[in-house]
Amino acid sequence: MNRIFSGVQPTGNLHLGNYLGAIRNWVALQQEYHCIFCIVDLHALTLPQDPEQLRAQTREVTAAYIAAGIDPERCVIFNQSTVPAHAELAWLLGCLTPLGWLNRMTQFKEKAGKHREEAGLGLYGYPVLMAADILLYKATHVPVGEDQKQHLELARDLAGAFNRRYGTEFFPLPEPQILGTAARVMSLRDGTKKMSKSDTSDYSRINMTDDADTIALKIRKAKTDPQPLPATIAEAEARPEADNLLGIYAALAGLDREQTVALFAGRNFSEFKQQLADLAAEVLGRIGGEMRRLTADPGYIDAVLRRGAERANALAAPHLRQVFDIMGLLRP
Ligand code: TYM
Repeated sequence: MNRIFSGVQPTGNLHLGNYLGAIRNWVALQQEYHCIFCIVDLHALTLPQDPEQLRAQTREVTAAYIAAGIDPERCVIFNQSTVPAHAELAWLLGCLTPLGWLNRMTQFKEKAGKHREEAGLGLYGYPVLMAADILLYKATHVPVGEDQKQHLELARDLAGAFNRRYGTEFFPLPEPQILGTAARVMSLRDGTKKMSKSDTSDYSRINMTDDADTIALKIRKAKTDPQPLPATIAEAEARPEADNLLGIYAALAGLDREQTVALFAGRNFSEFKQQLADLAAEVLGRIGGEMRRLTADPGYIDAVLRRGAERANALAAPHLRQVFDIMGLLRP
């Protein structure tokens, strides 16, 4: 059976981009694939985190998975640091990673910014740990938003490099699954920037736990241009803010872009925004409410994560042992 691995960092506010670009797609995939969904807390440590908040956010991401419809019986849900093999495999793969490959990673450049010299080794090696996450389970498919494409290419390159170096076909080359009309949700304040957990303006994103009034306010304030809504896809694509809001509507309503553009062609933004706000509030209201109910019971969340850690360790351990053998590490 094909196997899926994907993850979310427990850093800050989960937003509509995380939901539409990733989590929502996982819900459908769990019917067809063996799925492993991780809360990547080791990745979160590549930037400074408050320990208490990191724990709370790890539980919150777990709650979001379950609230969105991921079944913790059918899928393995766990936090990365409970399976030591992730860090171990990351070291082994790191020994096969040319620095040139890491120097090409745009996320490192964005996150390190002008302070490259002060950026940590963890941030630099982030994509190697991500490759280890995926390859540790011999995952065949990785459903993510578009921003993770480059990291996935590195994971494929590393799988290939390992297989060639040791003359084996041990690691399958994982396929990215970049799905739906909202694989790249943009900021509500700037249609050319990605919606992100770390944007300093809360008005740039819709959080999964925002209530209906907050959602309506943020959408009302969302940047648009003065013209009515575009009549064609080509026209929409030339207007990033309009295009983004139409893409969000399409994803939430389960329509394709053509249908959505046709539905609102030539209408005013105020009317469209009202309908978009109602739809977003309906979808997120259900999930946000369930997240609040689940996070009020940390005992339940922790039990899900404990059981997930047992199952993930059982899958990971034999693979790591085989990698040790292939690489010539003696296990006396
Ligand atoms: P993270 O936590 O930044 O984001 C989690 C998922 O949400 C998607 N996403 C978006 N999709 C559409 N529009 C957006 N504006 C948007 N912002 C985020 C991301 O593409 C991602 O799918 N490196 C990963 C976590 C990770 C991982 C892995 C993923 C670690 N190991 C192994 C897959 C497999 C990350 O930072 O995601």
